[in-house]
Amino acid sequence: MDLLILGGTAFLGRAVAAAALAQGHQVTCASRGSAPIAPGATLVRLDRDTDSLAAVSDHRWDAVVDVSRQPGQVRAAVRELDTAHRVFVSTGNVYADHATPGTSEDAPLLPASTGDVLPPDADGLAYGSAKVACEEAVREGRSTATVVRAGLIGGPGDVTGRVGYYPWRFAHPTGDDVLVPPDPTFPVAVIDVDDLAGWIVTAAQQRLDGTYDATGPTTDLATVLDAARRVAGSSAVARPVPAEVLADAGVEPFMGTPSLPLWIPDPDWRGFMTKTSRRARRDGLVTRPLEHTLERTLAWEEGRDAPRACGLTDAQERQLREVLDARGVR
Ligand SMILES: NC(=O)c1ccc[n+]([C@@H]2O[C@H](COP(=O)([O-])OP(=O)(O)OC[C@H]3O[C@@H](n4cnc5c(N)ncnc54)[C@H](OP(=O)(O)O)[C@@H]3O)[C@@H](O)[C@H]2O)c1
Repeated sequence: MDLLILGGTAFLGRAVAAAALAQGHQVTCASRGSAPIAPGATLVRLDRDTDSLAAVSDHRWDAVVDVSRQPGQVRAAVRELDTAHRVFVSTGNVYADHATPGTSEDAPLLPASTGDVLPPDADGLAYGSAKVACEEAVREGRSTATVVRAGLIGGPGDVTGRVGYYPWRFAHPTGDDVLVPPDPTFPVAVIDVDDLAGWIVTAAQQRLDGTYDATGPTTDLATVLDAARRVAGSSAVARPVPAEVLADAGVEPFMGTPSLPLWIPDPDWRGFMTKTSRRARRDGLVTRPLEHTLERTLAWEEGRDAPRACGLTDAQERQLREVLDARGVR
């Protein structure tokens, strides 16, 4: 295939490029070039906020992969690029209901946003609505299209650190225990970046025409924490922190600094990571064991050079432990 990736300098886009190259495809990445692309791919530098797509529009592509969250950018790509197939990377945030467990691709969506631009400080709802608008634009194009609603992605290159935090924290404890969320039964699903990337290449090659949830198998937080402890080879024990202590200390759930990731206390979000992805698995998605993803993520975390966008720093974890001890919470 002659594959164009709109992106390719970040986590998933770069993994898609690497997976396609490993299978012998030709890969062009179009982006501002803010980080290196996979070796063997060609970079076309362009800024989708200000430039036209002229540098990549005088060519017939076999497939175009787009990871954008900006409806205006996606509409322009659909209008201007000549391709046999498109893969659009969307998100599970497009759904309106995150309370019900085990829903499928037919579940109701958020309303599509109407603007062209998703502001950088947009919340999860605005992000989901923007992705719905992007999905609509892609489906209105002339080519076949795979819409991939990705779940939480883990693996090397995840700058957010949501999946890497606990393996890293167990590898670098600040005491005899690691502070973790209060609910070990919270449903968690992680898809490995390379499993998702590999399947995106398959979807492009087979021109899968449809919408797919693409998530890892659902397990619970306790299982993830056990696996994180094992891959870190740690003797520290997980110490759950009551929700009210976290709230008092300003520790956010899931994301942010400080936070404890992989947990959302709001019951309306309990089903967020419970998609079955049955359709994608039927059409070729294969996911590796969680432990392998955590192992690879930890290896990457050990050399990370950008700050993590979640978790507790050493000082924050020590401070929170002091609060627990002072309150007599074991
Ligand atoms: N991470 C998760 O757990 C998760 C979960 C669900 C869904 N997703 C979805 O998965 C995708 C993640 O993809 P990713 O990791 O490759 O993407 P990303 O981190 O969102 O990076 C965006 C890519 O687009 C390029 N880009 C951004 N602004 C641009 C502009 N103005 N002009 C040209 N290029 C621009 C960036 O390159 P330059 O900066 O070099 O221009 C980069 O390569 C996203 O669609 C996200 O919504 C992620």
